[in-house]
Amino acid sequence: MFVFTLCLFLWSWLSSIYGLEFRYHNSMEMEQYLKDINRMFPDITHLHGIGQSVEGRELWVLILGQHPREHRTGIPEFKYVGNMHGNEAVGRVLLLQLIDYLTSRYLSDPLVTRLLNSSRVHILPSMNPDGFESSARECMYTIGRYNKNGVDLNRNFPDLFEGNTEREREKEVRAVMDWLKTESFVLSANLHGGAVVASYPYDNSNGGSELQGGHSISPDDDVFVHLAKTYSYSHREMHNGNSCYDSQDFTQGITNGYYWYPLPGGMQDYNYVWAQCLELTLEISCCKFPPEAQLPGLWEANKPALLAYIQQVHLGVKGVVTDSYGKPVRNAVVEVAGRRNLCPFRTDRNGEYYRLLLPGNYTITVTYPGHKTLTQTVQVQYGPDAFSALTHNFFLQKNDYSSKATQLPQSCTTPNLGITESDSATLLPTVFTTLTLLLLQRLLL
Ligand SMILES: *[C@@H]1O[C@H](CO)[C@@H](O)[C@H](O)[C@H]1NC(C)=O
Ligand SMILES: *[C@@H]1O[C@H](CO)[C@@H](O)[C@H](O)[C@H]1NC(C)=O
Ligand SMILES: [Zn+2]
Repeated sequence: MFVFTLCLFLWSWLSSIYGLEFRYHNSMEMEQYLKDINRMFPDITHLHGIGQSVEGRELWVLILGQHPREHRTGIPEFKYVGNMHGNEAVGRVLLLQLIDYLTSRYLSDPLVTRLLNSSRVHILPSMNPDGFESSARECMYTIGRYNKNGVDLNRNFPDLFEGNTEREREKEVRAVMDWLKTESFVLSANLHGGAVVASYPYDNSNGGSELQGGHSISPDDDVFVHLAKTYSYSHREMHNGNSCYDSQDFTQGITNGYYWYPLPGGMQDYNYVWAQCLELTLEISCCKFPPEAQLPGLWEANKPALLAYIQQVHLGVKGVVTDSYGKPVRNAVVEVAGRRNLCPFRTDRNGEYYRLLLPGNYTITVTYPGHKTLTQTVQVQYGPDAFSALTHNFFLQKNDYSSKATQLPQSCTTPNLGITESDSATLLPTVFTTLTLLLLQRLLL
């Protein structure tokens, strides 16, 4: 009995020193781990479920931050999602390691402390626990990729380019869509495996003006390229662009999603277009389900990048829009000149807006019914250095009755289908794209 107790004591002592074991935790072990962490760090963590998988497994999200239970004005919401493809298991492992790292270093490590004091970090380690449990532990193939209904979750989101907004959604997808309504996420990444590259929106196109030289370019392309490079250059080797011996080269370790291969119904475009949350798809390992011995190396390669990426939530400008009574208003449209988003960015229920922007001068226009349209110029510095975006509040004034009613920008503009007769020359590349797509579907990342 004494020996047993001693062993138990030694084990818990060792694991407190060396942290979470580098191995694949099944869904029950993961749930236990998240509950233990939440019990050990109640001041900086909050654990909740956002829904269930088809087989009834809880989709757990751990929130970390100085105020984990609720949003605070000026504190941006950030998220990481792992294991959306059940057999791409490295993201799931790394997000659990990240939780271990952040909780154990709060108030001792300056970077971790500043990150958790200045932002609220939501982590969904596994979006597809059913797929994970049914995975074959192999590098390349697709066993375990799909959810229990055999659906690819990264093709099941509403897509403005496809107009498939009425289709039926899988439970896991529905859970994420509902989750996005509960918080105003500002920045996000979605962790995959099978390549090493940071991919950014758009993933899809319907041949409208967004399609430029085979890239599907969003109005925030400059910001997305910066975000992708932040990850690839903070990663041990992603920026070299040729980490996997059999894959194509990615210049600087980044790619436009559509340029790589067109992808309808993806989560990244959904976050950006519909939820005004900028999201990247991070491919973080050549092998989708590598031997456990490789996990510590993968963690070391990604750790600085995972931390640096969170800090990017402080890019640009943020603030509150108030009405003529000084009350914060919801659904005011906040537009940055030169950036026509498919769905205009709006203030959330706290009257707040967040706009990730690179340093420079920007003209911002705020529109709200019954109030004068307000246009102001802001000078944006590099926010991540200060762990805060520029704060700029807008104080609206009532419209006088003589002026005409405020024209609110349309809610979401469906991109035009751009193929006209004069564009027929672009049909040929489209055929090539389709062929490439067919070839790439074999790869399925
Ligand atoms: C972070 O917040 C904690 C709790 O309020 C405080 O004790 C600590 O000094 C803060 N640290 C930094 C670096 O902001
Ligand atoms: C932004 O505006 C400030 C003040 O008007 C000016 O000094 C600065 O040069 C401008 N910066 C850029 C990048 O245009
Ligand atoms: Zn994937």
